Amino acid sequence: MSVILAIESSCDDTSVAICNNGKITANVIANQTIHQNYGGVIPELASRVHQQNIVPAVQQALISAKVTKQDISAVAFTRGPGLLGSLLVGVSFAKSFALALNIPLISVNHMHAHILAHFIDDPKPNFPFICLTVSGGHTQIVLVKDYFDMEIVGETLDDAAGEAFDKTAKLLALPYPGGPLIDKHAQHGNPLAFKFAEPQIADLNFSFSGFKTSILYFIRKQEKENPNFIAENLDDICASVQYSIVQILQNKLKKAAKQYGINEIAIAGGVSANSGLRNGLQQTADELGWKVYIPAFQYCTDNAGMIAIAGYQKYLKQDFVGQDVSPMARMEF
Ligand code: KG4
Ligand code: ZN
Repeated sequence: MSVILAIESSCDDTSVAICNNGKITANVIANQTIHQNYGGVIPELASRVHQQNIVPAVQQALISAKVTKQDISAVAFTRGPGLLGSLLVGVSFAKSFALALNIPLISVNHMHAHILAHFIDDPKPNFPFICLTVSGGHTQIVLVKDYFDMEIVGETLDDAAGEAFDKTAKLLALPYPGGPLIDKHAQHGNPLAFKFAEPQIADLNFSFSGFKTSILYFIRKQEKENPNFIAENLDDICASVQYSIVQILQNKLKKAAKQYGINEIAIAGGVSANSGLRNGLQQTADELGWKVYIPAFQYCTDNAGMIAIAGYQKYLKQDFVGQDVSPMARMEF
């Protein structure tokens, strides 16, 4: 029997979840809207808002999971990678909570947790599988051999896929985070209206910085001829950009699947909430005979449910850390 309380505070969402014997019974996410005023996450503000959100989020999670503090067997927390000031709030809280209740602490790598989110609901992938993890800070193709035996076989050399969405959104004067808004507009646009060149990277790595610059030049050129170009073509621009990013991601995924002879394919991270990627992957799966695994929306973007399930797997192995643990902005995979 185990009840794990999990804390996620790596970026701008404060999240607390409860995992009761391997089942997620609460997943509270407190979003920070303040960053919308600045076009990106301001680390100092994020850290301060985590401090305000964390205690109410813990209380809400305990209530919705119908457990008390005394029922908790261990506290899992995101150690990294992420914003140091944000991580510090979650790590400090987890340490004090564990110390006060005299229960063990479990350290979780945020990028592992995005992948392990696939073990929350059925159907669960079979090992080995390939996971494309696409978030605001990372773009990785991971060969997942076991719960904590994972190998990065491809990753971005510059910007992450989420950044490509967010930076394009900024060019289009859409507020932060722009990914979900591009997705929304794309649903009313023509994905083939405009064409953007696919970066030519030979192996399983990605590059999005040149892609982003090509969009910038394209928009500047169009605006010289028609100052209202963006307003008049917003849906088509969003649909075309989204289509191109999804093509780039899917082509590498196809290459990885072929190279490793694996047809169990998963996606994870914030960008896996993208409708173009979800639909595209389903289509590719039908064509190539893949079994695809796409997390429920609440487990795509940052959430403590994924930290709780990763924590549960570590709890089963009694893999605990001491009170001397500290957050890591960069953390080895
Ligand atoms: O995993 P996540 O919540 O945080 C990080 O660990 O980075 O990912 C956030 C990223 C942001 O770049 C956001 O714009 C993107 O995921 N995102 C989306 C969608 N929902 C979130 N991008 C495209 N379409 C979406 N529907
Ligand atoms: Zn994340």
